Amino acid sequence: MDRFRIEGGRRLRGTVRISGAKNAALPAMTAALLTAEPVHLHNIPRVRDISTMGRLLAHMNARVETAEPRPTDLTITAEKISGAGAPYELVRTMRASILTLGPLIARLGAARVSLPGGCAIGARPVNLHVKALAQMGAEITTEHGYVEARAPHGRLRGAHIVFEKITVTGTENILMAATMADGETRLDNAAREPEVTDLVNLLIKMGARIEGAGTSCLRIDGVERLHGATHTVIPDRIEAGTFLIAGAITGGELVLNGCAPGHLTAVLAKLRETGVEISAEGADCLQVRAAKKLVAADVTTEEYPAFATDMQAQFMALATQAQGTSVITETIFENRFMHASEMVRMGAHISIDGRQAIVRGPATLEGTGVLASDLRASASLVLAGLVARGETFIDRVYHIDRGYENIEEKLSAVGASIERLRPAQT
Ligand code: UD1
Repeated sequence: MDRFRIEGGRRLRGTVRISGAKNAALPAMTAALLTAEPVHLHNIPRVRDISTMGRLLAHMNARVETAEPRPTDLTITAEKISGAGAPYELVRTMRASILTLGPLIARLGAARVSLPGGCAIGARPVNLHVKALAQMGAEITTEHGYVEARAPHGRLRGAHIVFEKITVTGTENILMAATMADGETRLDNAAREPEVTDLVNLLIKMGARIEGAGTSCLRIDGVERLHGATHTVIPDRIEAGTFLIAGAITGGELVLNGCAPGHLTAVLAKLRETGVEISAEGADCLQVRAAKKLVAADVTTEEYPAFATDMQAQFMALATQAQGTSVITETIFENRFMHASEMVRMGAHISIDGRQAIVRGPATLEGTGVLASDLRASASLVLAGLVARGETFIDRVYHIDRGYENIEEKLSAVGASIERLRPAQT
């Protein structure tokens, strides 16, 4: 398994190009299952979850083609697809494979998808996806680890769905299922994440009739069929936020190109509260300068537009370097502080009390061997390694490869000392 070796203490300076959003690209890819015509997607990040999703769609007989020499362009043609089942071997590495369920049942009237396994950051059930599909008339059984859904007359029917809890992929799944249902579907308490809105925009280009984009109430008027479309995926706000912290934590100065500052409002406000200087340099460009004096700030993760849970671990790395006590409250997932114990091993002062992490700073971090436990936790350990004294070795970087495009190359290009060690070298 690959590892990272990081030599801490370098100030980062330069320009970083932000990739397309993994969490917008994944639903966009499954949306292609809704039509027999080609769907052309631009700004697709080159990360492992995307290739896993490509393999999954190919397994369903969709044609997935990258446009060399532009590997960030993808064309998916789902002319004749099979809903025979998303196999567990693929699903277990990526929960987002559940996003095939809504499109398959809408297109074929039936679908069989392996239940995603447990996940390091919490139980993450799919009961809300299943319940909403049942409200739309689907007959659902879960047996032998698979969800099987069938629309009795081949089509789902519109329904009024009130999500008990805000769910991002749940909203996306039901949105896609509703595009070709009979009649109107209304989704209340829907997720408002920019990735959901990006999916709405793609579906509208494909001929779907959807109102309420960006709000918690989405109304979908089912149509007979959808057609092909061309779409550019939004920039990755979590990658952008991670690089903002990389600039700030190393005492450096970075320019981020190709980002969407409007999607980062809560993160920018919180970073400014700590003293980090950030300025917008045009519509898709941000400049970050380290704080003259970095001070503690409390953070509570919540659904968009509040501070994203996917930025919590990275913010914790920054908080270890801030003067004072930061209280970080995680409200979305029940077990998302695994990076804290690794940071403590590096010398951070962090105590966990249920859903709160209390971080006392500043602490001098020392490089050591640490273990990445999930995607964003691994990013936070990279950030800690960038500021630690000496060498940090991060194991299980396959987690980071799921969602960050060439992170070591992007960091090296702005002055970090980070290298990937392949098994033969370790
Ligand atoms: C998505 C993102 C992930 C992000 C998360 C929260 C993708 C591919 N992944 O994950 O990066 O961290 O949103 O912003 O877009 N829940 C249930 N029952 C369900 C569904 C969810 O109880 O049927 C709970 C979850 O356990 C969690 C909360 O609802 O506590 C939010 O989860 P959800 O928004 O569904 O996360 P994902 O869509 O899996």
